[in-house]
Formats: sequence, C-alpha cells, structure tokens
Amino acid sequence: MAIHKLLCNLSFIFLLFFHFGKGEIRLNYYSESCPNAEEIVKQEVISLYHKHGNTAVSWLRTLFHDCMVKSCDASILLESINGIQSEKTSTRNMGMRNFKYINTIKDALEKSCPMTVSCADIVALSARDGVVLLGGPHIEMKTGRKDSKESHLAEIDELLPNHNDSMAYVLSRFQSVGIDVEGTVALLGAHSVGRVHCANIVGRLYPTVDPTLDPNHAEYLKRRCPHPNPDPNAVEYSRNDLKTPMILDNMYYKNIMNNKGLLIVDQQLVSDPITSPFVENMATDNDYFHQQFSKALLTLSENNPLTEEDGEVRRDCRFVNSN
Ligand code: HEM
Ligand SMILES: *[C@@H]1O[C@H](CO)[C@@H](O)[C@H](O)[C@H]1NC(C)=O
Repeated sequence: MAIHKLLCNLSFIFLLFFHFGKGEIRLNYYSESCPNAEEIVKQEVISLYHKHGNTAVSWLRTLFHDCMVKSCDASILLESINGIQSEKTSTRNMGMRNFKYINTIKDALEKSCPMTVSCADIVALSARDGVVLLGGPHIEMKTGRKDSKESHLAEIDELLPNHNDSMAYVLSRFQSVGIDVEGTVALLGAHSVGRVHCANIVGRLYPTVDPTLDPNHAEYLKRRCPHPNPDPNAVEYSRNDLKTPMILDNMYYKNIMNNKGLLIVDQQLVSDPITSPFVENMATDNDYFHQQFSKALLTLSENNPLTEEDGEVRRDCRFVNSN
C-alpha cells in the first residue's frame, strides 16, 4: 500500500515536472473542443487564396516572424494600444501584409467555437495550409498553442535575422530554435515565393553593383528599383522568383546558384562552404527540398509554446483579452 502511494506521488511529481515551463501541444488538440477547427482554417485559407493569392505567401512569412521571436504565440498580431507597442512597427517586419485576413479566419472559428482556438494556432495552421496551395508539401502540425499577452517588439532586432546578416549569425539563430544547417537552407527556400521591397535590395545595386550578382539580373533589378534611396512607403519591389513566383519549389536554389538571389543572405547560402552542398542537393531534387522544408517548418512551428498560465486564447487576434 505504502509503495503504491509512493509511486503515485512520484508519478504525480513527474507529471508536474514535465508540465511546467512548456505549453502542451499535441496532434488534434481541438478534437473534443472544436472538432472542425482545422477544417475551418483550411477552408478559409483556400477561399482567401482564391480571392487574394498572396495571402498564402503571407502566412508563411508570418509564421517565421512570429515563431522566431521567442515563441509561436501570435505576438506579431497585436496592435499598438494600451501600453502595447506592435511588433508590426519593427523595420524587420517591413512589407508584411494581409494581417487583416487573419481576422477573417478567426471570425469563422469564433462562429463555430467561441474562445476556443488560439491565434497562435491560426498562425501555424494557416501557414501549413498556405504551403499546400503554393504547391508545397502537406505538414502534420500539432495544436494547442496559447496567445501571448505582450508584444516582443524590443527583442526583434536581436532575434530575427536581417537581410544582410552574416551566415554564421543566421545559422546560430536557427540553431537556437533547434534547426540545423540543412534545415536552415531548406527554410530559406520560402524565398521561392513572394517579393522583396527595394529598400532590401538597393544596397546591392548602388553606388556599385555587388559583384556576386549576375550583371543581367542586376540590370533588371535596377529597372525595378531605380532609386538608390527608396521611400520606405513606396510600393517598389521585385519578385523573388521570376519563373515560378507563386510556387514553393526548388527554383530558388537554381536561382541563387546562378547569382540571381535578391538578398545578401540568399546569396551567402551559395558562397558559404557550410551551406552550399545543401543548396546544390536541393537544386537538383525538389522532393528532398520539400522533405527538409517540412521537417524544419514543423520544428519552427513548435518553438517554445506558451503554457496555460502564461498565455490565453484571444477573442480578437489584434488585442489581449483584458482590453
Ligand atoms: C535569414 C533568414 C531570413 C531573412 C533575413 C529574411 C528576410 C526577408 C526579407 C528582407 C524579405 C522581403 C520583405 C519585403 O521587402 O517586403 C523576405 C520576404 C519573405 N520571407 Fe524571408 N527571410 C528569412 C527567412 C525566411 C523564412 C525562414 C521564411 C519562411 C519559412 C521566410 C518567408 C518569407 C516570405 C514568404 C517572403 C515574401 C513575403 C511577401 O511577398 O509578402 N523568410 N524575407
Ligand atoms: C544592413 O542593412 C541595414 C538597412 O536595411 C543597414 O542599416 C545596416 O547598416 C546594414 N548592415 C550591414 C552590416 O551592412
């Protein structure tokens, strides 16, 4: 009897130990509380994609910018109000778009299951479903993330790599969230879709053209970005991948191997001997790219989920509940 009691106590302590400090996420977290949650997100993502194709691109970037900064906790969705300074105001988050359609997805969920599905799970699941619409792989994702009650604006510059950071720094940032070199190379394949504003390109064009840039491509980029000091609010940009701009395929790796990468970090993937072997393999094998991309995006999507105590399920993704 005494031994039984002791064991019970021990396993209780054990459970407590593993429960604390880590949010509980698992497959089908909403199977009882909101059985259609994942289907609702998917249908909304599909319908938004048919109305505004670039929403699918946005969900992918939003996951990166949310999860890389401390936790996948939807902190990026908070607006500036009541002492909160929105992460959207960070220069690192320049060019991010389509946030308003997150509310469309949330509204659909609130109609079926009020106050049940977190905004952090919307960020994760919408990226997952967006990837499929962009011709990428389907990724099983856990759910049960909680939403932050604060913005992490002050930490963004330190945690989210910049377009011109060194590869060593970029690799160390990804390593800190459990993503290795191969995974980092695969994740940057996200730059197979979407666009880059001129502010992030002109450093490679003016006053002199970066010698690691293909000269013809540089001429093209100069036509897209004719001003050395572009107005940050101007809608001047270039597409990442001219051939398949809305397909998440390995064209990105072929482009950077031909010196047609847009960002300095893109180009460094080829010139750095640590990353270049993976670039070559991904350029020749789209399935391999997709496999590694799935694995790394999954790891990113599980970065440091908040516990029940630290987080909440927001009613409106733009505001913490107490407002
Ligand atoms: C070292 C890492 C990375 C850096 C420095 C970086 C930087 C950038 C920059 C500067 C842009 C252009 C923004 C603009 O001018 O509008 C961009 C676009 C984009 N990034 Fe990244 N990125 C990185 C990794 C990633 C990862 C891991 C993902 C997702 C898995 C991602 C997804 C995207 C997408 C989808 C776009 C296009 C957005 C659009 O068209 O609206 N990036 N990135
Ligand atoms: C990187 O680019 C930013 C502007 O986007 C600039 O302020 C910064 O000085 C650049 N850093 C380096 C090391 O060139």
